[in-house]
Amino acid sequence: MKKMMTLMLAGCVTLLAAQAFAADPKKEFVGSDTCKKCHAVEYKSWKETYHSKMVRPKKEAILKEAVERWATDGTNEGPTTSNVTKSKFSLDDVQYVVGSRWKQRYLVKNEQTGGLQFLNKQFNRYTGKWENYGNANDWNTNCGTCHTTGYRIMEYDEKFGKHGRTVKDSYSEMNVGCEACHGPGAKHIAAKGKDRKKTIFNPANADIKAQSKVCGYCHIRVENEKFMTAQGKPREDLPAPKVGDSYKAGDDWTTWYPQQAIIPGVHADQPANKEYAGDLKGLFKLDDHAKANGIYEEAKHHQQYQGFLQSKHYQSGTVSCITCHSPHAGKGKIKKVQKDACIKCHDKSVTVEKYMPNTGQTAGNLFVRSHTFPKNPRKGGAGAGDMAPPNYYE
Ligand code: HEC
Ligand code: HEC
Ligand code: HEC
Ligand code: HEC
Ligand code: HEC
Ligand code: HEC
Repeated sequence: MKKMMTLMLAGCVTLLAAQAFAADPKKEFVGSDTCKKCHAVEYKSWKETYHSKMVRPKKEAILKEAVERWATDGTNEGPTTSNVTKSKFSLDDVQYVVGSRWKQRYLVKNEQTGGLQFLNKQFNRYTGKWENYGNANDWNTNCGTCHTTGYRIMEYDEKFGKHGRTVKDSYSEMNVGCEACHGPGAKHIAAKGKDRKKTIFNPANADIKAQSKVCGYCHIRVENEKFMTAQGKPREDLPAPKVGDSYKAGDDWTTWYPQQAIIPGVHADQPANKEYAGDLKGLFKLDDHAKANGIYEEAKHHQQYQGFLQSKHYQSGTVSCITCHSPHAGKGKIKKVQKDACIKCHDKSVTVEKYMPNTGQTAGNLFVRSHTFPKNPRKGGAGAGDMAPPNYYE
């Protein structure tokens, strides 16, 4: 009986936390489940991609190995402490898990803000070991824009510290939902006949460079000093055009407060071959190999857009992210990408293995593929393709 009460209470807390953050105050974003009613095929294909699997309740997606090694992996102890408030937390306290393909991080309640914070270790799927996770910022204000949909800053305290900080935010759903790439859908679902098409954004209809920019909003690494995290430190993301407003697919986010956001490789005065500081330190490979090629490959993960901008592919004005990737596996593109992506336009000597080395580090000894497409590629490390698919606990 006592156990049941605890379970019920835990359920209530989760529900409350979800409600506090899952409302769209402007009612522009309707959520992926609403789109499912009329676009069952696209919904199903999206469900098969990792975009729908980024942030999930613990029960659905915690990795089996992580649970088994929670206390210790044989060498290192597992997570014990939260990264912002430094309180003790156990496996039972975990509400959501973030990631599953390369690595997994764990979210618990932040008793100070009512939002979510991380535990102090991440699980590396390749090595099967726990690694320190040193970030001291909370999830809501440092990661939300790229890992939720319809993200907004709702309240900002300009008087905090030197630069101010985010106090309250909101989003319409966890994960990279339909509206992250198609823009808010309220007008579209209310429309009739021909107005349907006019009321929703389809990246395929945008000009070729703008297509990549839709993906670039998240597949990038930036530092933002205009809007700070709840802890008052520079954010990693471009959270909002202004307080109360939200990024909409198709927006030209490169024009947002350029003086206060550092976007290496995108703005002309912030090139890929410059040394950056802070979280942006060591962003691109700047060694002799890079200098000889004039191509600065990604040294960290989620920089595909910044790598791609340097490529002949992008510069030729004939190739975009969606030339090779379809977020809708239903159309076959994403599943075939590895085998067929190059021979459509090149001879057989041009392979993914050779020209897309794993250069961007995502966890200890684990990398993601470069998207610079250099003539003289370097050798890469181990990537997602070197592992079996994730093995979940349930
Ligand atoms: C009530 C049914 C309905 C719902 C709900 C709905 N759509 Fe649609 N959608 C349509 C119809 C009908 C079309 C086709 C319009 C045409 O071809 O003229 C369409 C077309 C589209 C297109 C293609 C537009 C183009 O330019 O080719 C996209 C993208 C799209 N919808 C996305 C969404 C998203 C995202 C959602 C959820 C936010 C959603 N739809 C919800 C009915 C719906
Ligand atoms: C990561 C970005 C992304 C997400 C997330 C996404 N889409 Fe799309 N969608 C695209 C792109 C790009 C196209 C253009 C055609 C293509 O590349 O497959 C597209 C095309 C479409 C179309 C037009 C028909 C077609 O297949 O060409 C519909 C309808 C659609 N999406 C609905 C949805 C719905 C519903 C969801 C959520 C369940 C969703 N999309 C999630 C990027 C996305
Ligand atoms: C709102 C942020 C966001 C946008 C916009 C976005 N992505 Fe992603 N994408 C992510 C995140 C986060 C992941 C990692 C998901 C994971 O590993 O759990 C990801 C993963 C991927 C993957 C690897 C996983 C898979 O399912 O194959 C591909 C490929 C990808 N994105 C392509 C695209 C393309 C192409 C576009 C533009 C049409 C795009 N993304 C737009 C955030 C985004
Ligand atoms: C600018 C957008 C952006 C921000 C901000 C961002 N991420 Fe990500 N993240 C991505 C994308 C895109 C991917 C997948 C592609 C890649 O890693 O190259 C990813 C991948 C991940 C993964 C690995 C997913 C997997 O399946 O293995 C984890 C874990 C993660 N992010 C956690 C975080 C945390 C924690 C924060 C905040 C401190 C954060 N991210 C901030 C865009 C972002
Ligand atoms: C839609 C056609 C298309 C596809 C698909 C394609 N490429 Fe290309 N590729 C091009 C074009 C166009 C160029 C630029 C030619 C030029 O300007 O010299 C290019 C150039 C290159 C170059 C030479 C870059 C340089 O600096 O000279 C490499 C390497 C390359 N592609 C690799 C790949 C790989 C690997 C794939 C598969 C993952 C691929 N390409 C898929 C069209 C394509
Ligand atoms: C010329 C084709 C091509 C283009 C253009 C392209 N990609 Fe890729 N991408 C690939 C291939 C091939 C893979 C490897 C797929 C695999 O291993 O299953 C890949 C992998 C990825 C991954 C997964 C990372 C990993 O290491 O497995 C992400 C995320 C991604 N691409 C995002 C993007 C984004 C964002 C853009 C545009 C800025 C883009 N891609 C442009 C071909 C392309």
